[in-house]
Amino acid sequence: MLAPAIPQSVPVDPIALRRAFGTFLTGVTIITTHDAEGRPRGMTANSFSSVSLDPPLLLVCVGKGASSFEAFNRADSFAVNLLDAGQTELSNLFASKSADKFATVSHDRIHTGAPVLSACMTWFDCTVHNRIDAGDHIILLGEVQAFGTSPSAPLGFCRGRYAAVKDPLPPDWLASSGMINGYLIEAEGNLLLSADGRGGWTLPSTPRRIVDGKLELAGAGSVALVPDDTFLYSVFDVSDGDPGYLIYRARLAQDAGGLALPEGFRFYPLEDLPFDDIPVREIRTVLKRYVRESANRRFGIFVASSDGGRLAMVDEAQPWAQVPQL
Ligand SMILES: Cc1cc2nc3c(=O)[nH]c(=O)nc-3n(C[C@H](O)[C@H](O)[C@H](O)COP(=O)(O)O)c2cc1C
Repeated sequence: MLAPAIPQSVPVDPIALRRAFGTFLTGVTIITTHDAEGRPRGMTANSFSSVSLDPPLLLVCVGKGASSFEAFNRADSFAVNLLDAGQTELSNLFASKSADKFATVSHDRIHTGAPVLSACMTWFDCTVHNRIDAGDHIILLGEVQAFGTSPSAPLGFCRGRYAAVKDPLPPDWLASSGMINGYLIEAEGNLLLSADGRGGWTLPSTPRRIVDGKLELAGAGSVALVPDDTFLYSVFDVSDGDPGYLIYRARLAQDAGGLALPEGFRFYPLEDLPFDDIPVREIRTVLKRYVRESANRRFGIFVASSDGGRLAMVDEAQPWAQVPQL
């Protein structure tokens, strides 16, 4: 009688294994922390996973060969920044061995002090819950202390390449998610308006505040704004169940004439705004006030309230004071 076949342990080919692991479609994150000298450190990582809601835990795996490994191995806190579809260059930068990855990347301290990237889709600010030795990596378990998210499309990664995730949000997501950021963008007496998709006009808006002075135009490019020159202008809710609006005023950093605007965006002269085609009453009111106030360049801030609202004039003769980061 033949002896039963004994399964032989075949050494796993690491290159084939890496390729097989790589068929799992993931998002892309940048994990960040500080090293012993207090310098921000970070690397691209797609080994992220949510772990637990109670307590709120997540994990990432950090390679022992990474130059930032020591920083992650000894840190008390770290952040996970999930990238959006437009951040492949940032992903490449943080996957490189560049000596100063943060030189051109703005970041904030939010809760633990770990660097949270100012521009990303979603961030988690974590204290280290546990570190587990796992072969050529460590598993870093983080307890989420603070987080933030935005509705931008995520950056995907599969088989060693970036992958696009199409239309990740239902069309009414924005309406159910809270405030809309609208922008009054003026250039040489003209104001930028955006088609509302129903034959009318509205203000260009974004689901999150602009970063690095660039306003994304509904996924069709962006316009550059004068840095540090964006001011809150109006805060209101629309009574018919739409979300609330935060309206900012800003100035175009480039010449409006030389700007190739995507379809659905147009500059209108301030004295010739298409009020009849602006269906949201509150937006019309904001625009009328803007036209009025821009005549003598003195602007107010309006905050709606149950009895109508409050308007405070902002005296721009007073210089803005820099305040330290929280
Ligand atoms: C999409 C992508 C995902 C990655 N995921 C991880 C990961 O989960 N863990 C890891 O240790 N390295 C990962 N890397 C590799 C690191 O980003 C890379 O080794 C980087 O150079 C590390 O930076 P450092 O050496 O400056 O620390 C990934 C790279 C890419 C492009």
